[in-house]
Amino acid sequence: MEHDQIAKSPNHIIAVVGAGQMGHGIAHVMLRAGHHVILLDSSQDLTLAGAKRIIKGLARDVEKERLTDEQRHHAVACLKTTTVAADLAAADVIIEAVTEKFDVKAAVFHSLEPHCRPETIFASNTSSISITRLAAATARPAKFVGLHFFNPVPVMKLVEVVPGLQTAPETVEKAIALATSAGKTPVRVSDFPGFVSNRVLMPMINEAVFCLMEGVADAAGVDNVMKLGMNHPMGPLELADLIGLDVCRDIMMVLYESFHDSKYRPCPLLEKMVAAGWLGCKTQRGFYTYPREQAESSKQ
Ligand code: 3HC
Repeated sequence: MEHDQIAKSPNHIIAVVGAGQMGHGIAHVMLRAGHHVILLDSSQDLTLAGAKRIIKGLARDVEKERLTDEQRHHAVACLKTTTVAADLAAADVIIEAVTEKFDVKAAVFHSLEPHCRPETIFASNTSSISITRLAAATARPAKFVGLHFFNPVPVMKLVEVVPGLQTAPETVEKAIALATSAGKTPVRVSDFPGFVSNRVLMPMINEAVFCLMEGVADAAGVDNVMKLGMNHPMGPLELADLIGLDVCRDIMMVLYESFHDSKYRPCPLLEKMVAAGWLGCKTQRGFYTYPREQAESSKQ
């Protein structure tokens, strides 16, 4: 699979592991680009829920004239779901988008390894875990790369492309070509905790939670300051709800444990909300409750 082959004939087989918020979004943009997609998760309920959201997203693409109806039909036909690792044997690239825990991700790659061709590229959508360390947990470190997408995946233009210490230059080239084929703008960043995106974003969100906890302003006040004063499209607390408070806490822990610097300690209120199971949009409760009331949204 050559660099420009991917770009010119976008009909490669991309496996996406994890049908959740990021996984189904990545599958959606790969299908939209003309690739075949195999979506793997641990249960049929999860793969079917992911597929349902992808199919809805593709229909929306037709409404918004991003796809023709024929392209939508083709994309839907190119989507396969499975719970069986052996079904990924034909994949050219595997993009992992499971829980943000090293052991979980390493176990996923370990379980896929025996079923995949030696030339298959393994990519992780990790938002902060070391690519070098993940690559070392596989038998193909030169063919391992970070491909970090942003939420909501169909909308956000950026993909951070993260080579580990062992990643071969041609693997990076192919990763860049794949992200480009999916309509994204790849930015190559080095393998440091949180890369660029989450090293900058998460401390801001964490500090916003400290402001809320200390009573500097209420949630709407904190968010309004950043939206109206800094032109951010969403306030940091709304954004934390969108990303998932557990994901924000996990990323802060990776930064804290990697840099050994107390400036990255997760705010106690963030920890408490995660402990309560108030994880944001996905649990209908975070800094706000969901669906957002019309009156509440218009105040923001
Ligand atoms: N999922 C999918 N699509 C969504 C969406 C969601 N949660 N929210 C909005 N959209 C789509 C809408 O359907 C609409 O698409 P359309 O063209 O089909 O109509 C489009 O986005 C624009 O939506 P709206 O007009 O309703 O709303 P806005 O103009 O306010 O945009 C937003 C919504 C794109 C979410 C904007 O508020 C935004 O850019 N917010 C910041 C998001 C951000 O910072 N993401 C990065 C998070 S960090 C991350 O992901 C890294 C990870 O490692 C933690």
